Amino acid sequence: MRREITFIFAVRQPLEYIFRNLVPTGPAAEFSDHYLLDCLARINYYSVMKDKQRIAREIELLREEIRRHNHNYYILDRSEISDAEYDSLFDRLAALEKEHPELITLDSPTKRVGAEVSKEFAQVRHSSPMLSLSKAMSQNEFMDFHNRVCDALKVSRDKKIKYICEPKLDGLAIEIVYLDGILRLAATRGDGIVGEDVTLNARTIRTIPLKLSESHPRVEVRGEVIFPKARFDNMNKERCLRGEEPFANPRNAAAGSLRQLNSKITAQRPLDAMFYGLGALELEGETPPKNHTEELKFITRLGMKPIFKPQTCEGYGEVAAYFEDISRERENLDFEIDGVVIKVNNIDYQRLLGEISRSPRWAVAWKFPAYEKVTRLKEVFWNVGRTAAIIPVALLEPVELAGATVKRASLHNEEQIERLALKIGDTVVVRRAGDVIPEVVRPLEELRTGEEIDIIPPEDCPVCGARLVKEPGDVFRRCPNVSCPAVVAESIEHWASRLAMDIDGLGPKQIEQFLNKSLIFDVADLYKIQAEQILLLDRFGEKSARNLIKAIEHSKERPLWKFIYALGVRHVGESIAKILADRFKSMDLLKNVDFEDLTSIEGIGPEIANSIKDFFTNPQNLNLLDKLNDVGVEPFFTETTLGAKPLDSLNFVITGTLSLSRDKIKATLERAGAKVTVSVSSKTDFVVYGDSPGSKLDRARQLGVETIDESGLNRLLKSRRVIY
Ligand code: IVH
Repeated sequence: MRREITFIFAVRQPLEYIFRNLVPTGPAAEFSDHYLLDCLARINYYSVMKDKQRIAREIELLREEIRRHNHNYYILDRSEISDAEYDSLFDRLAALEKEHPELITLDSPTKRVGAEVSKEFAQVRHSSPMLSLSKAMSQNEFMDFHNRVCDALKVSRDKKIKYICEPKLDGLAIEIVYLDGILRLAATRGDGIVGEDVTLNARTIRTIPLKLSESHPRVEVRGEVIFPKARFDNMNKERCLRGEEPFANPRNAAAGSLRQLNSKITAQRPLDAMFYGLGALELEGETPPKNHTEELKFITRLGMKPIFKPQTCEGYGEVAAYFEDISRERENLDFEIDGVVIKVNNIDYQRLLGEISRSPRWAVAWKFPAYEKVTRLKEVFWNVGRTAAIIPVALLEPVELAGATVKRASLHNEEQIERLALKIGDTVVVRRAGDVIPEVVRPLEELRTGEEIDIIPPEDCPVCGARLVKEPGDVFRRCPNVSCPAVVAESIEHWASRLAMDIDGLGPKQIEQFLNKSLIFDVADLYKIQAEQILLLDRFGEKSARNLIKAIEHSKERPLWKFIYALGVRHVGESIAKILADRFKSMDLLKNVDFEDLTSIEGIGPEIANSIKDFFTNPQNLNLLDKLNDVGVEPFFTETTLGAKPLDSLNFVITGTLSLSRDKIKATLERAGAKVTVSVSSKTDFVVYGDSPGSKLDRARQLGVETIDESGLNRLLKSRRVIY
């Protein structure tokens, strides 16, 4: 204070002078010491703030620069600066962050332990979607597929279509992008549209070449990363010896290893990969493969490992024989497979057949029968689900099934129990098919002792005791009590789940604590909780309480589709939520939508429309939406990946005479998501030129915009699988 007073004394006169000039009408008497001190403090504050802004800016620039060099080094395999220069940039950033810890963000390059550990994987958009396969579970279902193919190609169902059959590998799908023959990017499938950049990890897999034996401008190869069984067993033994948790199965081990944040760990895992398809292609000196057999030959020629034992099969009989062969061979193979993939060989036919709901109509996965085992049904308990449905769950004597220990199995609903004529104490067949929840298939009645007990569905809610209701046509009894703790807890859990509002650290245990202490009654209350309140609860410390509050705060801003999904409207899962978000773009519009509007949307039938309408006419729900708005939960609209198109957000200009009419080309480009404009600007991505192009071509060249002729355009379209 003394120093400040002396300071004021020293600067009082000049300050008064300045102020009087700034505020000429103010009498000198108004400038009390106190007032001047206050002004000085403010000036001081602003200069500190300015300094801080400058430092923040420098930190940001350093980060951008370091990221760019990382990208050059790790992804592009090229370096613009020496290691020493890189280190000095890095050290400077680290020093600034140390001095100003409040400016540290999680995405800072310094927040990687060693350069090869990424906090999370970057997202990459596949240049054409990585589709999934529709399934056939039996011969009959395969025949249905064959019939659909014949019908769509308008040929007789007796026609011997040329198929190619391959084992269905049980690993993790991957796409590798080679530019000019060099591995530039490896990405997981993700949601099929956007995957994760796992380049560093894929580079550690010895069977994936870093350089192809032939150089082409762009080659995208798709396949599966697998963990060979023998190596898997060895690794698990070693893990057990070291006291580490063994992996459940080779698939999990493959996925866990490929999605390792530290690629040094991936390098120690003996992963393998096989390739079965191509993505976008830009080839030099050759035409793209005309059928799948040629694709596999091409993959082999490039020096990559093609899928094991592909075989062409004509007609149904040969396919069935291949399926039998592979089923028999399955046990002796050194990698897990879970079926056979059958693909129409001819690529023109593949194009004609196209795709439907993210699966090609030209391929099908004929799966092996699910794994089944026998165990005993110890008890049935009744769970209260999010939609208040009372769901029976079987409690089993633990059994090993397809690589996992199964203790519980779904009984779906009480009608299923009746259909199976199931009793407690029964010996039952349980099945676990792929990733789906294990289920009770049937009781073995011949093994009954007479001591089995009937299963009686509850009359009252097992959690809140309310009398259950069963509406006509509903397979479930439901708890009518909207404040039933089980229903509330489930809906809050759903709200916080990854796919919904993604609140890290808020799981069933924490929710239960909050509900028990009456800290919350619904999801909106989450946003009013204070760290001090959480601190009073068991198992919470300073840090975890603060982190949870932060996570809750973060969740206020989420894409609209997540918010819609999080509301837990019956029948509105992820994809319907995305459709609704893309269509309405705001909650206000969605809230007031009418039935006809909803049913006019592709993918929304009357049942879903009714459920949405019911939700938004229920005053309790509207009240909740208001409450969420009041506490600052503000979803924002962003286009989902549902409508992503192969040429999304690319701008084209067409000039000169081409062999196809301009309208036709324009229509094709626009259908694929591109914009076609008349004048060339720096925003133009491609100028397509024909004969006598004129000034647009010159302008494009001046601006450095890419120019392509008709065959260049055709190559581009082909590589993105766009057809006229
Ligand atoms: S073809 C458009 N071939 O199965 C066709 N997929 O449900 C897409 N998979 O995640 C794939 N073995 O990773 C194909 N021989 C094979 C396959 C195979 C395994 C996986 C693939 C994808 C899933 C599709």
